[in-house]
Amino acid sequence: MYAIGSKKNLLNNELSNGYYETVSDLLENEMVLKMKNFMQHGNTTTFQHCVNVSYYNYKLCKLFRLDARAGARAGLLHDFFLYDWHTHTKETGDHFHGMTHPKAALKNACEHFTLSDKEKDIILKHMFPLTITPPSYRETVVIVLVDKYCGLIETAAHLLSKISGNLSSAAE
Ligand SMILES: [Fe+2]
Ligand SMILES: [Fe+2]
Repeated sequence: MYAIGSKKNLLNNELSNGYYETVSDLLENEMVLKMKNFMQHGNTTTFQHCVNVSYYNYKLCKLFRLDARAGARAGLLHDFFLYDWHTHTKETGDHFHGMTHPKAALKNACEHFTLSDKEKDIILKHMFPLTITPPSYRETVVIVLVDKYCGLIETAAHLLSKISGNLSSAAE
């Protein structure tokens, strides 16, 4: 298991600098694994997106001597809403997935795990400034940036692979 742009096997605790043991119980949870059934950006599943955000949260929080455990664990659960957002509006009439999914993710997370106040804040406010209430912790500021960065990279990687696929089929 890898995060986008990283060659470190995250299942190796030593290679991942302790990341694996920080989140191993979440990674083995069958509800968390259900996020593999939904696509987030381009070819990236919601599970892979959450792994990307969780790992880079962990790294940045360690770098800035913040709470890397909260960053990693809440990062893995920040989009734990368990539906396909591409068809969500049509199916439910909810036109505001961008604003409502942090609450859905937090509700699911609280049903399955015990979360600290900081972890709850990270999940609930990761879409700031779309969700208006500002972060209460520095770790929440980290996810606000990391989530947007990962979303951008995942979308760009998908577009680039489509463009290179089109170019190579045009050259044939
Ligand atoms: Fe999100
Ligand atoms: Fe996200």
